[in-house]
Amino acid sequence: MKSDLSGGIAVLDFGGQYAHLICRRVRALGVYSELVPHSTTAKELREMGVAGAILSGGPASVYAKGAPQPDPRIFDGRVPVLGICYGHQLLVRALGGQVGRSTRREYGRSMVKILEKGGLFEGIDRTSLSCWMSHTDSPRAVPAGLRVTAATENSPYAAVESSSGPLYGVQFHPEVSHTEEGQTVLSNFVLGVCGARRSWSMEGFRKRSVAELSKLDGRVLCAVSGGVDSSVTAALLNEAVGSKLKCVFIDTGLLRDGEAAYVMKFLARDLGVDVELVDASAAFLRALRGVADPEQKRKVVGKAFADAFERFASQRGPFRYLAQGTLYPDVIESGRSSAPASVIKTHHNVGGLPPGLSMKVVEPLRELYKDEVRELGAILGLPKKVLARHPFPGPGLAVRVIGEVTEEKLRIARESSRVVEEVLEEEGLYDRVWQAFAYVGDDEVTGVLGDERRLGRQVTVKVVESVDAMTADWSRLQPEVLERVSTRLTNEVEGVVAVAYLVSSKPPATIEPQ
Ligand code: XMP
Repeated sequence: MKSDLSGGIAVLDFGGQYAHLICRRVRALGVYSELVPHSTTAKELREMGVAGAILSGGPASVYAKGAPQPDPRIFDGRVPVLGICYGHQLLVRALGGQVGRSTRREYGRSMVKILEKGGLFEGIDRTSLSCWMSHTDSPRAVPAGLRVTAATENSPYAAVESSSGPLYGVQFHPEVSHTEEGQTVLSNFVLGVCGARRSWSMEGFRKRSVAELSKLDGRVLCAVSGGVDSSVTAALLNEAVGSKLKCVFIDTGLLRDGEAAYVMKFLARDLGVDVELVDASAAFLRALRGVADPEQKRKVVGKAFADAFERFASQRGPFRYLAQGTLYPDVIESGRSSAPASVIKTHHNVGGLPPGLSMKVVEPLRELYKDEVRELGAILGLPKKVLARHPFPGPGLAVRVIGEVTEEKLRIARESSRVVEEVLEEEGLYDRVWQAFAYVGDDEVTGVLGDERRLGRQVTVKVVESVDAMTADWSRLQPEVLERVSTRLTNEVEGVVAVAYLVSSKPPATIEPQ
């Protein structure tokens, strides 16, 4: 949905993984922000009436042939500019500095020393901050007109500010949740330097979406999974198109324990939605037989979904539209954004739909991050229990079973995940973590049951903390909690003799094991 950027912040997209995240953070400040092509000119920005522009990071080297370059007039000082990472290097270079390979690449956390207070660092008392870095190049020399306001051990020009106009650059990523005071840095630019208009709110988004969706001129089929995203999608569409909406809940056989019954009850009762249950589990399991490759599994599940939808649509149709709860991270991680970052995983709901699909896809949440969707769900009146549910991947337990999907491994993954969730709920930790589950592969380990040695499965427990799923860290659970999880798993889940706890962050690991 295009919105008026007047008084807002345009983010010029140079292809960085975190480009969308910058918009999200700016919106969290109540200021509308959108990603625009990196080729947007200074004149176009002024015509849009933006309060400021942020140049995103990107994978290229500024001096490489064919590297994306902005309109040089962007740096004339008429529109305030903040360059981040690659954007920082572009700014330094455009103003007469030099950029080159860093002596050491910086990936992950770096200590940034603040050399000059005020400006981007206004209101920050500390003299150094732990910041997220991800770069190979960095400025090697800066021109006289740029003041250096922060440095790291390997980046002597980690933050700069122009003495003659509102031009700023930072080598680190203030938009990433692991950067300390990152939101303060962004706020200092957006509200302090740019004086941007605070007109963005979730209520505004709801009104605009409902107005836009109510123009849909035909019946809408919405696939619901019981998760936050599809429930909010259904609620929004219910408000916008009412009786033109029909929801279908497909039981894939890859769902969480008790999910089908729970979803049908809350959707029909709490949301008053017209929803029908289709048990397609046999077809999904058949299609997955013999498939071990993770990407292939996603494609198989996506295809089985599409087939089930189409069958339902032809029986209950005609439907003109198919609504999906696709979010920003799904879009960007599937390489579908305007300047695609490289594909990380093909998420079923954006990767697997056949080109000949006879319905038009509607994705009302594709601009939003998870926490924004929860906020929207709350103002739409969804029950707290639904909004607080952990995310669950579209391909379900198929990606929490390593190797071929079998009934036995599915049962172990399903029951084990329920146990992990139950323990966290009992410990009051469920709402504090992003996701908690267990997965299983083909590893068989020797166990001792009574006096008998017996081969059994090893399950791996994952509990992660995250703000937006773009990055995540493993949860430092107390040993006593881990012990309870482990004991319950081996006692209660048939076939499990050993339990491991995964201690990798994202990156390099992803949240789902596959
Ligand atoms: P990863 O594993 O990529 O996951 O770190 C990030 C977030 O997305 C969820 N996820 C998916 N959601 N379809 C979805 O709708 C998928 O194929 C899929 N794969 C991962 C995951 O649970 C996490 O919250």
